[in-house]
Amino acid sequence: MAGLALTASVLLMGCTPLPPSKPASEFTPQEARGAAVFQSHCARCHYPTTTHGLHGPGLQALTKLKAMPSGAPPTDARITQTILYGHGMMQPVAVSDAELRDLLAYLHTL
Ligand code: HEC
Repeated sequence: MAGLALTASVLLMGCTPLPPSKPASEFTPQEARGAAVFQSHCARCHYPTTTHGLHGPGLQALTKLKAMPSGAPPTDARITQTILYGHGMMQPVAVSDAELRDLLAYLHTL
């Protein structure tokens, strides 16, 4: 039954299922701090738990995908560049070095 439901949802979505996100209850202290940074700096434009768009694309499984919506690989360097310098329609976001490290740790849990 579970297999059938999974197959059905894959067919509905038209793509392979995303790897699961790490539950918040298992976050390291750094990941938890990163989640707070995400809430204050990113959440108004990005959903972390789906790939559906808000103002920007949903970021579920961001670092586990082959490519980000732009086609660029989801490396820490490219993500850092997107955050600090902006990308296309996204304005740069001002975060400290410590916030950025925490945020990257959190993005890897998605
Ligand atoms: C004011 C809205 C807004 C905020 C705040 C924002 N973003 Fe974005 N973001 C966007 C938009 C719009 C895009 C799509 C840009 C495009 O492709 O033109 C985007 C794209 C992205 C992408 C995909 C880049 C790619 O190469 O496809 C990533 C990753 C991302 N944002 C991460 C973040 C993170 C992390 C934060 C918080 C530090 C953040 N964004 C804050 C609007 C926002």
